[in-house]
Amino acid sequence: MATRRVTTRGHDPSERVAEAENGHAKDGKARFDHIYNQPDPRPYFQTLEQFGYEIPAHGQAMFTLLVAKLLEEKRPEDLAVLDLCCSYGVNATLLNHDLTLDDLYQRYRSPELADLSSRELADDDARFYGSRRRRSPLPMLGIDTADQAVGYAARAGLLAVGSHENLETADPSESLRRCLAGVGLITVTGGIGYISERTFDRVLQATGGTPWVASFALRWVSYDPIASVLDKHGLVTETLATRTFPQRRFTDEAERAYVLAELARIGIDPAGKEAKGRYHAHFYLSRPAAHVKQLPLEELAAGL
Ligand SMILES: C[S@@+](CC[C@H](N)C(=O)[O-])C[C@H]1O[C@@H](n2cnc3c(N)ncnc32)[C@H](O)[C@@H]1O
Repeated sequence: MATRRVTTRGHDPSERVAEAENGHAKDGKARFDHIYNQPDPRPYFQTLEQFGYEIPAHGQAMFTLLVAKLLEEKRPEDLAVLDLCCSYGVNATLLNHDLTLDDLYQRYRSPELADLSSRELADDDARFYGSRRRRSPLPMLGIDTADQAVGYAARAGLLAVGSHENLETADPSESLRRCLAGVGLITVTGGIGYISERTFDRVLQATGGTPWVASFALRWVSYDPIASVLDKHGLVTETLATRTFPQRRFTDEAERAYVLAELARIGIDPAGKEAKGRYHAHFYLSRPAAHVKQLPLEELAAGL
């Protein structure tokens, strides 16, 4: 696997994405906003399973490697992890429990849980996750503008701290700022584009120090503005140059045609990736320069 440094000035020509369209709200991309803020996670998992949404599973493998590395220097209870765009606590669940994404899909479509109210399901989830929690769980913090999703994750015991503050538009409140102080790892799956460099700038101001930042971002989203902001906070960004991660299947032929036309327009070759019917994401890791020098991402990720 090879890595490349992410440029912090100007855009890589192969990813020339105009700022104004550098997000998830592209005309031809299927929208799932209706499932993001429901009283419980059943519609979220049932809908995304249909399209083989798999990026949190890649996140689980990658974030687990990063956590193992960070735990060489810290005790688990001291390694606070912030998941941005945390939704119903998917990444928190996969990091702190003996469960896979497939287990979650199976659970939330199971007929035994179908008749429970959202409140009953949260109680059942709290018991279920309690029985699957790893021996030394990490303190998990989550931020997502979907207040019901974050509230559910906190009720089910998945997040120590959940916030629905929108850091795209405003600075964190004093209480959120206090919670963010000292965070050691920041994770994102499926959220880049919804959040931009604005959120990262505000989060990094609040965390202080130099947490590692680990993000998966669709190939048509430029990460350069985020890498620039992280650089300002003392973090060097690398990406795996030879490996991408499938995110989900296209919902239909119209979405496929749209994505392929968009990629052609911005000069990204879809061969072997989107051309086979799935969105693909790059993985980006930002760390202090000394950590990059000591163990480049390519070596760190060799165990994947
Ligand atoms: C595709 S989902 C990804 C959820 C989860 N990380 C996963 O991979 O399953 C995108 C999430 O971004 C959230 N979101 C959208 N705008 C946001 C913002 N400004 N700040 C934080 N979260 C936001 C949505 O509510 C939604 O939960």
